[in-house]
Order: sequence, then structure tokens, then C-alpha cells
Amino acid sequence: MNNEKLPIFELKNVTQQFGQFQALTALNLQIFAGESVALVGASGAGKSTLISLLNGTLLPSQGEVWVLGRNIAHLRPQLRRQVHREIGTIYQQFHLVDNLQVIHNLNAGHLGRWSLLKAAISLIYPLEVETAAKALKQVGIPEKLFERTDSLSGGQQQRVAIARSLVQNPTAILADEPISSLDPERSREIMDLLRQLSQETGKTLVSSLHAIELARSHYQRLIGLKAGRILFDTPTEVLTEAMIEELYRAC
Ligand SMILES: Nc1ncnc2c1ncn2[C@@H]1O[C@H](COP(=O)(O)OP(=O)(O)OP(=O)(O)O)[C@@H](O)[C@H]1O
Ligand SMILES: [Mg+2]
Repeated sequence: MNNEKLPIFELKNVTQQFGQFQALTALNLQIFAGESVALVGASGAGKSTLISLLNGTLLPSQGEVWVLGRNIAHLRPQLRRQVHREIGTIYQQFHLVDNLQVIHNLNAGHLGRWSLLKAAISLIYPLEVETAAKALKQVGIPEKLFERTDSLSGGQQQRVAIARSLVQNPTAILADEPISSLDPERSREIMDLLRQLSQETGKTLVSSLHAIELARSHYQRLIGLKAGRILFDTPTEVLTEAMIEELYRAC
């Protein structure tokens, strides 16, 4: 970690309320370029809420979220969209359009940059086939470019979602439970792929995960959330069994 550089993400005393319910309480953290971070913790601990704060889909009730050196609550909509484009997010349910060919889902990675006209034309005559084909090759399924998306298996669809974020070419990739719809073998493959891509491209990777063993084997830094607070924020190699036990012990 290089503390002289600007963090990619920074939370300053962030609290998130949903009505009367406090989902996150007084979080402080910094994530730097090139780090690979797993957010771990029991269901309801606040992992997805934190991901939504990091990609700017949620603004904090209190405190400040800084992304790429900007306080996102203070950005005009156009600049917020620009920051948003720099952050790619992958979800558990893939968020793909089922009845379109893979190429169209991949080209959705350009949407923040393309004009409406170009996007509309591309739905009929796919543009940027080369970029899409390259991204699909990077995720290991180059032969699926013109297949209908809903004819792919779950693991393949998650690969398409990852390839779409490569087309978007963001500075950082967020992944919210990217493997919970997959079987153990596919889960490991997707974890391997995300790790390999973040190592090859140097992109910052922040992923929420239920599977603590995969978090340990695939990420350099672990942030343990418990009931909306940070229980630990530590390099993976210093995580102990006692810390894991405390993380999952009922409050
Ligand atoms: N939009 C919302 N409105 C009300 N409560 C919410 C909202 N989003 C999240 N919460 C609550 O905030 C808490 C944290 O939710 P969050 O989805 O962040 O947990 P999580 O750690 O991602 O859980 P899981 O592992 O089950 O995905 C939960 O108690 C949840 O019910
Ligand atoms: Mg969640």
C-alpha cells in the first residue's frame, strides 16, 4: 500500500441509515490503486450497502465518500456519471439482458461513453466487435460472442458480466457476491479469473464474499464487517481463526 498516493476510495466517518435502521456506523477506510480487497461478514452486516456507497449508487446519510479524489455527494450529475464510469460493478445476478446476443451485453460496457444514436445503431449492427471479442477472450469464452446470453450457463454469464466491465475499462472493479449463484467449482474459477485480471491489469478490486476461505486464498486485504461496523481491516496473512469466529458469532 502506498500512502503517499491518493486513495481510489476513501470513507470518512460514514454512517448509513435506512429510515430508523442504521446499516453502517462510522466507517473509516482507504483503498489504494491496485489493491485487492474482500469485504466479509455475516448476512446483513452491510457489505452490499458499502459496495453501493463505493460506486455512488447510494449517498451516505452522514460522513463523506471520496472516489478518485472527489467527494461524490458534491459532484454535479455529469461529473458523478464520469466517476461512475471509472468504477465497474459486477453483481450476483449478473445484470445481463437475457434475450440479447453476448456482443450486445458486452457493448453495454460502452454506454456511459457512447451517444444514444451510436448505442441504438449498435443494437442492430454491433460496433466495436474487436474490443468485445478481446474482452471475451480474456475471460476464456471467445466462442460465445454471438450466442444468445440466456443460452449460457451461470458461470459463463458471470464471465460475460466480467468481460463487460473490461470493455468499460474502469479504474476499479467492485463485485457484490459475484459467486453466490454458482457451484463451488465455478466459484473458484471466477475467483481465479478476477484475481488474474486484477493482477494483469493492475485494477483495484473490491469484492463482497460469503466464502471466507476464497476471500483468504484470493485477496490481499480483508475487511470484516459486523453489524455495520468494521471489526477488522487487515492483510490476509495476519487473519486468525479467532478473528473469523468473532466475525460470525451472533451479536
Ligand atoms: N434499501 C434498504 N432499505 C432498508 N434497509 C436496507 C436497505 N438496504 C439494506 N438494508 C438493511 O441494511 C442491512 C445491511 O444490508 P446489506 O444488504 O448491506 O447486507 P449484506 O452484508 O450485503 O448481506 P448479504 O450477505 O445477505 O448480502 C440489512 O439489515 C438490510 O436489511
Ligand atoms: Mg449483500
